[in-house]
Amino acid sequence: MISYKELGLVNTREMFAKALKGGYAIPAFNFNNMEQLQAIVQAAAELKSPVILQVSKGARNYANQTLLRYMAQGAVEFAKELGWERPQIALHLDHGDTFETCKSCVDFGFSSVMIDASSKPYEENVALTRQVVDYAHKYDVTVEAELGVLAGVEDEVSSEESHYTRPEEVIDFATRTGCDSLAISIGTSHGAYKFKPEQCTRDPKTGQLVPPPLAFDVLREIEKNLPGFPIVLHGSSSVPQEYVDMIHQYGGKLPDAIGIPEDQLRDAAKSAVCKINIDSDSRLAMTAAVRKVLAEKPGEFDPRKYLGPARDEMKKLYMHKIVNVLGSDGKAE
Ligand code: G3H
Ligand code: 13P
Ligand code: ZN
Repeated sequence: MISYKELGLVNTREMFAKALKGGYAIPAFNFNNMEQLQAIVQAAAELKSPVILQVSKGARNYANQTLLRYMAQGAVEFAKELGWERPQIALHLDHGDTFETCKSCVDFGFSSVMIDASSKPYEENVALTRQVVDYAHKYDVTVEAELGVLAGVEDEVSSEESHYTRPEEVIDFATRTGCDSLAISIGTSHGAYKFKPEQCTRDPKTGQLVPPPLAFDVLREIEKNLPGFPIVLHGSSSVPQEYVDMIHQYGGKLPDAIGIPEDQLRDAAKSAVCKINIDSDSRLAMTAAVRKVLAEKPGEFDPRKYLGPARDEMKKLYMHKIVNVLGSDGKAE
């Protein structure tokens, strides 16, 4: 058993309490490799923003949970080296799907876990979440749970209200599970194709797709039922057009890629939403930068020469999100 406290990590309790009071949100960035982690830590340290490092199942399969945990431990030391005296960095399991996975992360130094039982029947979601909370809280590890189903591009009716979190369930769920934060579904979804073109309108000037708005009415109802409770938004990448264009320019193909407009996320960050998950945008930044270098310098074969610019591009993206979307800069001096 290793406590995250020994590693210099923090759980999300205080981060969220301050974010709720201050009307901003904490960035939750996924990482799978060193360059991503370097870029996240550099951005957070320079801007003194609290940050959540997220490890998904895909990341654990790709990079190994043990290695990623040691990297997060290294991130704390790196942040200090960069002049951030008291780094506020949480290490979080993203979309944990079983009690055993959550337990193994708690035992191994994660400071926060998500148990995502949102696809299970309500009572099963309650029971599994409660089990994880009972275990995690013994070690002061915070727990994120989920209610509602995030739309997927494969869904027939991806933005239908039936998928949204039902505000009438949240009090019972939060009370019975004891979870520390709640991920909700109000129209966001994972990946770079968040809406089908037929769900969007087109901007007459640019011809670009304009997605339907998020269900802020559902968010308001949830806030009313659970005042002061930390809410989480998954699937919050914006799929910046500049990266899509760059990827197309250098040989890639992402037809009709579309994300959540940043002004809507900015509004969400001012509400009870205090954790915003971003992964796809970082993938796009990295891919765009790598493609550019390889297209412009076909003789290049030193990975540092294309992963370095990719890292710089990701850092720029993370800084932009922290300052212009989440408003978390300067909140962890
Ligand atoms: O929740 C989705 C995240 O973007 C992680 O995705 O499972 O491909 O690592 P992944
Ligand atoms: P995006 O795919 O929109 O970046 O969402 C990431 C996420 O929710 C990770 O849990
Ligand atoms: Zn997610």
